[in-house]
Amino acid sequence: MSDTLPLSPRPTLGFIGAGRVARALASAATQANYDVSVVASRNADSAQRIGAALPNCETLTVDRPEDMNAVFSRADLVFLTVPDDAIGSCAAYLAPHAGQALVHCSGASEVGLLAPATQHGGQIGGFHPLFLFAGLDDDATRLSGSAITIEADTPLNEILQRLASDIGCRALSIPPGERMQYHAGANYAASFLLCLLDEATHLWQAIGMSENDAREAMWPLVIGTLNAARERGLSGALAGPVSRGDAGIVTRHTEALASMGGNHATLYSLLTLRAIHLARQRTNADSTALDAIARAVAPYIPPCSPSPESNT
Ligand SMILES: NC(=O)c1ccc[n+]([C@@H]2O[C@H](COP(=O)([O-])OP(=O)(O)OC[C@H]3O[C@@H](n4cnc5c(N)ncnc54)[C@H](OP(=O)(O)O)[C@@H]3O)[C@@H](O)[C@H]2O)c1
Repeated sequence: MSDTLPLSPRPTLGFIGAGRVARALASAATQANYDVSVVASRNADSAQRIGAALPNCETLTVDRPEDMNAVFSRADLVFLTVPDDAIGSCAAYLAPHAGQALVHCSGASEVGLLAPATQHGGQIGGFHPLFLFAGLDDDATRLSGSAITIEADTPLNEILQRLASDIGCRALSIPPGERMQYHAGANYAASFLLCLLDEATHLWQAIGMSENDAREAMWPLVIGTLNAARERGLSGALAGPVSRGDAGIVTRHTEALASMGGNHATLYSLLTLRAIHLARQRTNADSTALDAIARAVAPYIPPCSPSPESNT
């Protein structure tokens, strides 16, 4: 149906859901000379906060979901930037026509959630920025250089790829139906990094270090590690006892963490398996020492976890 009236190569943009992603994408697209003509949200203040910063952008307050479709009389490519749980229920009220498209920005939700919106010939797609939008004023600027994962048929796919490139990002694609593994991976590269830093802070505070000293000591370590990984790859940047084949230190780490109770030793041991996996990729890997380390952490890994050797 959509091939009867193709999308304009540079469509006017609209947003439903005036949160962190809408704010940054609307601003980045405007800076790339796209026309963001409408921002709609339930809360008038949140829509106005975004719309007021953009030229010629109308803001709509949509109290009832059935009023949301009004955005398609003002924009041809609409981003549904609401929480994931609301995507399906909103899509049921949206009816883009041929030459228009509805796109969500979720990494976890399938594009098929938007299927109810295709009944009048509009296209649907996914546009997931691999970026942590924290609601900061410079999110739009910092977004530049990120990857954006696009899932859509032509011609929408080409339009979304062009938009990604125009806002300084790199387009990626994933096979349909693989979003769970894709999104779980993204979680490791973003939120779970924070969880690891939280564990480090916790261990240091447990021996009397102030939270402030812990955080300040952490940044050079974190940034240095990430820079090294970027230059030399993950296995090339690996440091610490696993990289040296030092089973004695790993044993003493796990004993100290086990004495704290909780799941500190288990977390450490599971991550040690990943470190062993990285260390084995090195040309000079000492298999005997790495096997000894795997045996040292095995007692701390719950029985339902994979064996130390199935660490890929
Ligand atoms: N934040 C990130 O780092 C990030 C990164 C990549 C992708 N994403 C994806 O981008 C999408 C938006 O995320 P976000 O972080 O921008 O969310 P957000 O900051 O929480 O904003 C969502 C907005 O949607 C509106 N909303 C909430 N519930 C609604 C409902 N039931 N019906 C209609 N509107 C509703 C709210 O507007 P009102 O205030 O007007 O109610 C809210 O401002 C999600 O799919 C998310 O998975 C987020």
